[in-house]
Amino acid sequence: MNIIITKNYQELSKKAANIFLNQLALKPDSVFGLATGSTPLGMYAEIIKRFKNHTYDFSRVKTFNLDEYYGLKKNNPQSYYYFMQENFFKQVNFKDKNINFLNGMASNPQKECADYEAKIKRNPIDLQILGIGANGHIGFNEPGSKLNSKSRLIDLDKKTIEDNSKFFSSKGEVPTRALTIGIGTILSAKKILLLASGKNKAEAVRGMVEKQSSAKCPASFLQKHNDVIVIADQEATSMLKKKYKSQNNFEDIIYNENNISIKRH
Ligand code: PGA
Repeated sequence: MNIIITKNYQELSKKAANIFLNQLALKPDSVFGLATGSTPLGMYAEIIKRFKNHTYDFSRVKTFNLDEYYGLKKNNPQSYYYFMQENFFKQVNFKDKNINFLNGMASNPQKECADYEAKIKRNPIDLQILGIGANGHIGFNEPGSKLNSKSRLIDLDKKTIEDNSKFFSSKGEVPTRALTIGIGTILSAKKILLLASGKNKAEAVRGMVEKQSSAKCPASFLQKHNDVIVIADQEATSMLKKKYKSQNNFEDIIYNENNISIKRH
């Protein structure tokens, strides 16, 4: 794992946008795995800002989102589909047909998940964006999720319901189930970028990076992948015991705001 520790959330978002746009520059028809939640919002905002000032083209990009609440329609403002439309998709030039989402209203969730899994297999994810739950979840792979798990319907953890209630007017409104891609699906991505910000993520970040990988902290299974970048701010890394020197060996490409130059070491 490459750990990049940033001063604050703003710096985290800029660095994440660099990596995202580098991937786009390298491969204009990249497949991105995308995440919702408050953490990637700054990265999306930064990408949108740069899209407005420069010539980026997302028309050949394909996206697969990680998860969706079960029982919410796409047009429900609390759905993850709606979140992505408002905070990212509508604001750059994605093509609708290239956007893939688990359908939270699927009458046969098992088939929905199997179809999604098969589609990801046909379109392998080049860069998977992840947040991390305070309980160590990635996507909605709650504690107890297995290393080789695939897309499925899952009961949400109490902690997740509590944490996500910040987006709802009351805790009782938070759906109790969701569709999520699995840990195995996430690990099949070529490259993974996980973002973590704030004190309430410090324990999960420690479990992910320094503890033995186990289902207690699903993010710890990322230790098994050979191309993971974690960008986390000082608060989120405040419980790490070892010293981390940012390794820049992933920075094959040096991003520059005005043009993209490719520098190989
Ligand atoms: P957050 O959620 O970005 O809203 O903190 C992260 C997650 O649950 O994966």
